[in-house]
Amino acid sequence: MFATVLLLLVALCAQGGNGEERGEEAQRPGHVTVVIVGGTGDLAKKYLWRGFFELYVNKVKGGNTFSFYGGGLSPADKGKPALFEILKTLSCSKDISQERCALLKEQFLRLTQYRELKTLENYQKLGKDIEQDLKQEGMTEAGRLFYLSVPAFVYADIADKINSSCRPTSGAWLRVVLEKPFGHDFRSAQVLASQLGGSLKDEEMYRIDHYLGKQVVAKILPFRIENKKFLDPIWNKHHIERVEIVLKETLDAKGRIAFYDQYGVIRDVLQNHLTEVMTLLSMKLPKNLSNSEEVLNNKLQIFRSLLPVGKKQAVVGQYQAYKTEVQQELNKTKDHVSITPTFAAVLAYIDDAQYEGIPILMISGKMLDERVGYARIVFKNDVFCVQNHNSVHCKPKQIVFYFGHGSLQYPAVLVSKNLFKPVLKDAEWKEVTEHKDVNVLGLSITDYYVHTPKKQREAYSELISHIFAGRKNSFISTENLLASWGLWTPLLSSLATSFPRIYPGGAENGDLLDICVKGREINYNSEVVIISNDQMGGTSAKGFQVMQGKFRGTDMVSAWSEELVNRLAEDLQEAAEAAVRENGVFHLALSGGSSPLALFYRLALHHFSFPWRETHVWMVDERCVPLSEAESNFNTLHDHLLQHVRIPYHNIHPMPVQLNQRLCVEEDRGALLYENEIRALVNGSSFHFVLLGVGYDSHTASLFPGSKWDEHGKKLVVMTESPNKPHQRMSLTFTAINGARRVAVLVMGKGKHELVTQLSRVKDNPDKWPVTGVKPASGTLVWYIDYDALLG
Ligand SMILES: *[C@@H]1O[C@H](CO)[C@@H](O)[C@H](O)[C@H]1NC(C)=O
Ligand SMILES: *[C@@H]1O[C@H](CO)[C@@H](O)[C@H](O)[C@H]1NC(C)=O
Ligand SMILES: *[C@@H]1O[C@H](CO)[C@@H](O)[C@H](O)[C@H]1NC(C)=O
Ligand SMILES: *[C@@H]1O[C@H](CO)[C@@H](O)[C@H](O)[C@H]1NC(C)=O
Repeated sequence: MFATVLLLLVALCAQGGNGEERGEEAQRPGHVTVVIVGGTGDLAKKYLWRGFFELYVNKVKGGNTFSFYGGGLSPADKGKPALFEILKTLSCSKDISQERCALLKEQFLRLTQYRELKTLENYQKLGKDIEQDLKQEGMTEAGRLFYLSVPAFVYADIADKINSSCRPTSGAWLRVVLEKPFGHDFRSAQVLASQLGGSLKDEEMYRIDHYLGKQVVAKILPFRIENKKFLDPIWNKHHIERVEIVLKETLDAKGRIAFYDQYGVIRDVLQNHLTEVMTLLSMKLPKNLSNSEEVLNNKLQIFRSLLPVGKKQAVVGQYQAYKTEVQQELNKTKDHVSITPTFAAVLAYIDDAQYEGIPILMISGKMLDERVGYARIVFKNDVFCVQNHNSVHCKPKQIVFYFGHGSLQYPAVLVSKNLFKPVLKDAEWKEVTEHKDVNVLGLSITDYYVHTPKKQREAYSELISHIFAGRKNSFISTENLLASWGLWTPLLSSLATSFPRIYPGGAENGDLLDICVKGREINYNSEVVIISNDQMGGTSAKGFQVMQGKFRGTDMVSAWSEELVNRLAEDLQEAAEAAVRENGVFHLALSGGSSPLALFYRLALHHFSFPWRETHVWMVDERCVPLSEAESNFNTLHDHLLQHVRIPYHNIHPMPVQLNQRLCVEEDRGALLYENEIRALVNGSSFHFVLLGVGYDSHTASLFPGSKWDEHGKKLVVMTESPNKPHQRMSLTFTAINGARRVAVLVMGKGKHELVTQLSRVKDNPDKWPVTGVKPASGTLVWYIDYDALLG
């Protein structure tokens, strides 16, 4: 039976169309070709064909004609039957009669064919065939949709083939859909984005996060807009106690370990799904929800105001059986240890006037007690009930976006009755008033106003209809993707050596994974840490203590990079507190470059205890570029530190590299201006603390090898030339640096090992090795060198 249907399918495809639809030709906006690359894979089997069938059912009356291709690596004799097996199971929604459904399905099958898509020739043939069919049928083309349901490492290659041989005829659109993972950190995401950018335009790429197609997730913004008059007064730090975004799974990672062990829960769930929900909850409301550019831009703003997330803002766990699964699936020996987290709870803060101080918790894990996803906004309750604790106004006040599963079993938006009665102006949603008796996050269902979609739709079907309509606001733009990786990458690297807490899985976890938030930090609530000896592997011998020693005859502190940065931050704070006690003010001069970034993160995180109000921040050096540009040292300092701390504006002293609307022109005397500012404000022109880095060529500040530094005399600030672009620099001189009370030189990373070795041997010769000219006259010099740089 199935052989005959297949024959029919092939025969009719060769004719390129379908008689019934031809009658509607006049109204046709055009023909759409859909190609699912990986069309017989798991995702296609479970969701994609259903989604495209639904699209076909909904749009076939709209005047479009379609053809569908399932592409795979297998030759046609294997691929065709596999595809047919999948298509056979398609079904319609309940509101379509059986006869009509059978008819639609038959049409859909006729319009669908299998294609081997492996080589460039395969793609060229596909491109030619599509064009020939269009010509034969005299159809105008509306567009081509390629859905890449394949591993990410082949994206760039396929995109290139599509660009070279399957672009549509002029005037028609091209849309290429991609599934996560989009890289595994900032750098790799950037590389992938730029590879894809060579073949596809930004507007042609649709990066899918299926969470954004979930009905309740898609409802967050409309809900916030429709209930603006209730929410405006309470959607802020004065009323919100905390926000929780949670995705719990009961499944393990079995069968997917080869993928999962490279990623872990943070990359798999937090970086994408939970981050997207977080931005929807906190972003500025767009004036126009259908304006993709505005929606994506407002999301991007949230990334800009998030405080950096560090190790102290995360706890990680791993279910007990994971280790054995890894050993089996990756064919490892019994002493192999994986520290990939399968559970994580992360604490984020948005540093703006509306939300500052509100803890935002993002939590996800495998092998937990139940399968559920939700976002909950818990409001402060300032009512204290003396007698009747069951009265409604004593109960928790919360809004819950319930994505599905869990105790409720259906997606819903729930608002506790002591908040307000929400409005949902959407004919496709209804209020639920009859419920079975369930408890949702600490409240009985009857304590909520509950709204649910009248008809549940698959996230993929929803997003496929958005792709068809060219609506980009529920997809991830390149900019937003990189911003998200910018948030998560530092945390991922700081967790690279952290041992997860081992948990048994399921109900047995008990309260082992409960977390507590104190100040800006998050910890497991219980002290028990079950790490068996073999989980620790051989690494416990590594020793994380700080080493004290001498380098070039002066003090040196050395440790693993994170410990080193902590120590430097502590020393810096101690110096600041001492200076404020003695002089009422702390003058700090900071360098550019990448080494201090980790220090800036640390300072931003612990900014409450630092005397920022009494601190003046000066620049050690600056590039001759506008301060607003990413290359500017001041810009980096601003983005990573200054904007997160409470420092008075008039205490901030950028170098005046731009005067009279031009950059670093001699006669504008920028250097002299800065020097005079130092002389006017800094007692004896002696900074309390100067932080320096050192470049591969041993330059420090912007003092490069090959200059005659004696010629600066008593000058504090000069213009210098860098061998690298931008060549022009403004820099403190050795006179200014060596006048400081305390100078710290921070050296980090394996790449600096050779330099450190060399520096340990050479004599002072600032013209050749500038950093050797750092010799505070009456202050102290301390080298902070991490183990990577020291030991290689
Ligand atoms: C696509 O390929 C053409 C050459 O066939 C190339 O000129 C173009 O830059 C590529 N990329 C895009 C986005 O069109
Ligand atoms: C909202 O944006 C969409 C898409 O950009 C546009 O078509 C529509 O006219 C806009 N609506 C309003 C009221 O501006
Ligand atoms: C598994 O490892 C053993 C020994 O390390 C090796 O002999 C065997 O070929 C490996 N099997 C696979 C499937 O990689
Ligand atoms: C300036 O520094 C000198 C020592 O260098 C100190 O005696 C004096 O008190 C300082 N003045 C102020 C205003 O802090």
